[in-house]
Amino acid sequence: MTESTNAVRTTPFELEVRKDTRFDFSNTPVIHTRNNTYISHFFNAISLAAPITEGILMRVARRVGGDVTDPALKKDLSSFIGQEGVHTREHRRLNKRLSELGFGLEDVCSELDDTIKRLEETLSLKKLMAGVVVGEHAVYSMSKVGLSKPGLFYGQDKEVRRLFEWHAMEEMEHQSVCHDIYVHLYGDNLERRYLYSTVFIQSSSIVYQVYARLMRELIKHSEKPSAKELSDFIKWATISPAVGPFLLRELMAFLLPNFKHWGRANIDNSLIHKALNNVYS
Ligand SMILES: [Fe+2]
Ligand SMILES: [Fe+2]
Repeated sequence: MTESTNAVRTTPFELEVRKDTRFDFSNTPVIHTRNNTYISHFFNAISLAAPITEGILMRVARRVGGDVTDPALKKDLSSFIGQEGVHTREHRRLNKRLSELGFGLEDVCSELDDTIKRLEETLSLKKLMAGVVVGEHAVYSMSKVGLSKPGLFYGQDKEVRRLFEWHAMEEMEHQSVCHDIYVHLYGDNLERRYLYSTVFIQSSSIVYQVYARLMRELIKHSEKPSAKELSDFIKWATISPAVGPFLLRELMAFLLPNFKHWGRANIDNSLIHKALNNVYS
């Protein structure tokens, strides 16, 4: 990562698109984490949704791209699209494995994708871009939880862990790109704060519905999980590694008036470097 001196942007280094990054899921089972159906399907749902959620982020980013006049931000946007493109490609690889095992949920994913595309047609580009900023913050929050809580990946298939750790690391790297682009195009004013907050609230229920639907369908396709699997999942989410409370805290920080991307740059940079070593060593 090369340090940047450009004052227009807030990303503290040059972004890299690691096109040659590839994963091998040929031996990955569908229940790949702690032998727990719920925890495994939590990750499977994220992977199945990735081409849908990252699809809309990339479509909107491409649409605003022509209006971006700042060369440094233009480069960031292109790297952002590049990184998301490689994420989608590698999640499709895991999703293909899930399909081979009977868990591809092709019909459900295609229905969810159509719903998102129909909604997209009804919104202005400015509102869509605000949605992209909010979406990127949600992914950043999940990524930060993933990289800060080593217990999250405990007992996970090695290649699934590498995929999620790599994805989380790059999400942290490009955390502020879309916000910088939004401010460049539409300004940093009260309207921006209002739009970010309203879109945050409106999109939360859509995102919840997408993941809840995928989790339900994945569980329906599985052998009935035991009561212990459910209690271990609840413990995993709330007590240790306590994904839920930590995620909620990161998500809600976005609504605070003093919220700033890279507000805790030292922590973020150290998590990025640690993940880079884990994934590529
Ligand atoms: Fe991504
Ligand atoms: Fe992203």
